[in-house]
Amino acid sequence: MASLSFAAAVHLRRPDVASDFGNRRKPSNLVRGKRLALSLNVTSSTEPSSAVPEKPEIELEFIGPKPAADGSYPVDKAKAVSGEKLLRSIMNENKIELYATYGKVMNCGGGGSCGTCIVEILDGNDLLNERTNTEMRYLKKKPESWRLACQTIVGNKENSGKVVVRRLPQWKK
Ligand code: FES
Repeated sequence: MASLSFAAAVHLRRPDVASDFGNRRKPSNLVRGKRLALSLNVTSSTEPSSAVPEKPEIELEFIGPKPAADGSYPVDKAKAVSGEKLLRSIMNENKIELYATYGKVMNCGGGGSCGTCIVEILDGNDLLNERTNTEMRYLKKKPESWRLACQTIVGNKENSGKVVVRRLPQWKK
């Protein structure tokens, strides 16, 4: 960019030299004005472009329902821009198992009409939306920490932090 501006400056100077021959020390005001404008352009082109502020993110950890042979629970991790996605979508995109056997074949595809996308929020509940009416209906007799992943919005576009989710809490041992 700087070399282009330099070439333009050289081009503008030629008529100036020809018309003011013998008086090179005093170029016309018009040409001086153009040079000034060009030098301002060069200065602004070298400044860093105004960066778009990054959107807040939510970190997610998904704990498996059953421990491995060594007693540790499997953990999957994912990240999501705050307030843009449902927990179900994030799990699907990251190929994190959500459904138990029946839900795998009979889930409603996120429509809130099967009640099979159950997860438990172990930490970071304050980063999620409130339970919806659909959840109130399907999870009436379940622990407060249980949610339907297709009803759970991760973040509110402004918050950030970490949410820890237990998959298939109905299988927990
Ligand atoms: S996928 Fe059916 S209620 Fe969530």
